Amino acid sequence: MKPGVQARRDAATAVGRILRSGAYSNRLVDMSTLPQQDADQFRFLTYTTLRHLKRIDGVVEGFSKRKIPKLDGDVADVLRVAVAELLYGRAPAHAVVDSAVESIKSGKRGKASGFVNGVLRAIVRDRERLPPPSDPRSEYPEWMVEKLDGQWDADEVEAFLSVSLGDAPRQVRAGPGSGGEGLSVVEAIPGAYEWSASGELPDGFVVQDAASVAVGNAVPLRPGDLVLDLAAAPGGKAAHMRDRGARVVATDRNRRRALDGHRRWPDLHWVVADGLHPPFRPGSFDHVLLDAPCSGLGTMRRRPEVRYRVDSESIVELGKRQRSMLDTALTLVRPGGTVTYSVCTVTSEETVDVVAGLPAEAPEGAPGRIWGNGILLGPHLTDTDGMFISVVRRP
Ligand SMILES: C[S@@+](CC[C@H](N)C(=O)[O-])C[C@H]1O[C@@H](n2cnc3c(N)ncnc32)[C@H](O)[C@@H]1O
Repeated sequence: MKPGVQARRDAATAVGRILRSGAYSNRLVDMSTLPQQDADQFRFLTYTTLRHLKRIDGVVEGFSKRKIPKLDGDVADVLRVAVAELLYGRAPAHAVVDSAVESIKSGKRGKASGFVNGVLRAIVRDRERLPPPSDPRSEYPEWMVEKLDGQWDADEVEAFLSVSLGDAPRQVRAGPGSGGEGLSVVEAIPGAYEWSASGELPDGFVVQDAASVAVGNAVPLRPGDLVLDLAAAPGGKAAHMRDRGARVVATDRNRRRALDGHRRWPDLHWVVADGLHPPFRPGSFDHVLLDAPCSGLGTMRRRPEVRYRVDSESIVELGKRQRSMLDTALTLVRPGGTVTYSVCTVTSEETVDVVAGLPAEAPEGAPGRIWGNGILLGPHLTDTDGMFISVVRRP
């Protein structure tokens, strides 16, 4: 196989799995076993295709004269990845076209190689017809842009959307007593570091976005406190609270995810349970962390596809479920205890609206900007995932 074909083929396969089978881009990209240079190309092509999918699909449809749903999925994905590279990459056009043709020939859709060749050659010949790079708003579903415009000022929407089209820094959390090369401190988030070295992560560190570290820091616990993590899997934040000296009970409704968590953090006390019907007596815990299931729109640098997995109706439904889980969580803490509510998203329905009217406030010392009764971190604010955190105190 010619150089670069495998990376391009893997990217097309990954795009198909992400768009049609619910796989997550960050997992597929991190799991690649290709040699470093090919792995970097695979990562670039997969992310670029997903981030600019609307523009890329417009080009594929314009030149193939077919709507994407009318194309075979594998053929569409090879074309998408090739167009992503023609628009945003640096490889010579002939290498991109030849690779795409070789890639389709070697798969189950070999008969489509003439079509792929024709469409891509027409694009290369007729480059002036390509739409210019668009403003960041047009890279996202319209409902999402409208929603953000309804809750933030135009500058913040613009900043969030354009920064969310880029790469996330590689961030880690330090466990007790750890140290290592290639680490730089993330400002205002104790325990969070950026990790620039290659190779194995030094002992004692776990890969965790700094916004998630800020969540683990936000729970106002003291060593020895009994803390429930009500939606805990895979367990990064529960392990952080354990490292801070808490006795942690980690529950999750999803058995497979809880088992993964148990394998990774066997010293935590794992319970498979529905957070809406938890098997614990009222008032049993000093503190609860509710890191609630959410739309994940704060994670689009690592998972650009999440924007295609939700819509405005599902956001409203998520907000209702989050509020029910929060009400349940509040019954589980002793008087004077707290529920720390966090979500890695930025829609008002899942953030400020959920804690509105409750005795809630922003956690002490966390970076970001105050929003309603909580604090907002984000790619455009703190160079982290988007994360809303609010600490609700039970009277
Ligand atoms: C944002 S993730 C939690 C991430 C986790 N806190 C960590 O730091 O690793 C949300 C979790 O909520 C779980 N979940 C969804 N609905 C739930 C429910 N009704 N009760 C308990 N867990 C639920 C999901 O299985 C998922 O693992």
